[in-house]
Amino acid sequence: MVVLVTGGAGYIGRLVVRDLRTAGHEVRVLDSLLHGQEDIGRSLADDGVDLIRGDVRDPAARERALSGADAVVHLAAIVGDPACGRDPELSQAVNVGGTRGLLDDAARLGAQRFVFASTCSNYGRMADPTVPIDEDGELAAVSLYAEQKVAMERLLLGDATQRPDLVPTCLRFATIYGVAPRMRFDLTVNEFTRDLWAARPLEVFGEQFWRPYVHVADAARAVALVLASPPQRVAGRVFNVGHSDENHRKLDLVRIVTGHLGRGEVSYVARDEDPRDYKVEFGRIRDELGFVPEHRVPDGVAEIVAALEQERFGDPFSARFSNIG
Ligand SMILES: NC(=O)c1ccc[n+]([C@@H]2O[C@H](COP(=O)([O-])OP(=O)(O)OC[C@H]3O[C@@H](n4cnc5c(N)ncnc54)[C@H](O)[C@@H]3O)[C@@H](O)[C@H]2O)c1
Repeated sequence: MVVLVTGGAGYIGRLVVRDLRTAGHEVRVLDSLLHGQEDIGRSLADDGVDLIRGDVRDPAARERALSGADAVVHLAAIVGDPACGRDPELSQAVNVGGTRGLLDDAARLGAQRFVFASTCSNYGRMADPTVPIDEDGELAAVSLYAEQKVAMERLLLGDATQRPDLVPTCLRFATIYGVAPRMRFDLTVNEFTRDLWAARPLEVFGEQFWRPYVHVADAARAVALVLASPPQRVAGRVFNVGHSDENHRKLDLVRIVTGHLGRGEVSYVARDEDPRDYKVEFGRIRDELGFVPEHRVPDGVAEIVAALEQERFGDPFSARFSNIG
């Protein structure tokens, strides 16, 4: 297949591209290199990937990227609650306008598959977060970012009848962790590990709140698996991507990181922000597609610490490792 990966120079995207190349697909990337990932852009070219440096909001860039594409993996976005909250207009234009345009153009130009990167943040704050929620559970977005993802899921799945030849699939990723070529240190596991490794005092709020996690390499593998699955198994389907054993409270993450490092100064503070509290069930993707993540949070923490020790990131506190700047 010819697969277009939007956001292919991103944290998840670069590994998706690697896996799709390994599976023998021709891969094209549409990415604006929003976070200055020039190095990733070069590595894509070295890998035989056609990089179109452009914006998903730009119809001409979409047309070029989509021509001849059999499948689309749509990852490009303004990612995360803080980044969307900081510039609502931009996030609306990219996450909603860009996704609508890409979907319409993909159908018009004859793509057969459309995999959309959604998020378990759609579950928001659950009335009883101790009972895991599955894909049919009620969505309760508590941020603009999640509201946009919920709206785009509905568009993708609701309008499917108008695009009978396009097979849409939504992947609700758990919060990602682990080392990848485009590193992000603004995600909980990665951030806690970096800060405690660097002997910075860590302030944690909402330490009792539950959230699911998944390793970046496993998340990427799920995308390739969906594209390798028969269309009838994934058409119009939503899959949570993660493992039911990987629901953790922030308190648990602190214990894992300090346990690994044997040190760490942590204080717990009350703060009235980010009320997400949800425990997620991941049986569907396991039972229907045979997907089981290979990594667990302690492996990810060990891997991040090893990479920090090897100074693989230069200054790990550099703004380029964060979507919040
Ligand atoms: N990281 C997580 O924990 C997580 C969890 C759930 C869902 N997701 C979703 O997965 C996808 C990838 O996230 P990520 O963690 O790899 O983030 P990322 O920021 O590393 O990747 C996003 C990519 O999109 C590109 N991009 C941004 N705006 C663009 C635009 N207007 N046009 C073209 N390219 C643009 C960026 O340059 C970047 O390469 C996103 O859709 C995100 O919402 C991520």
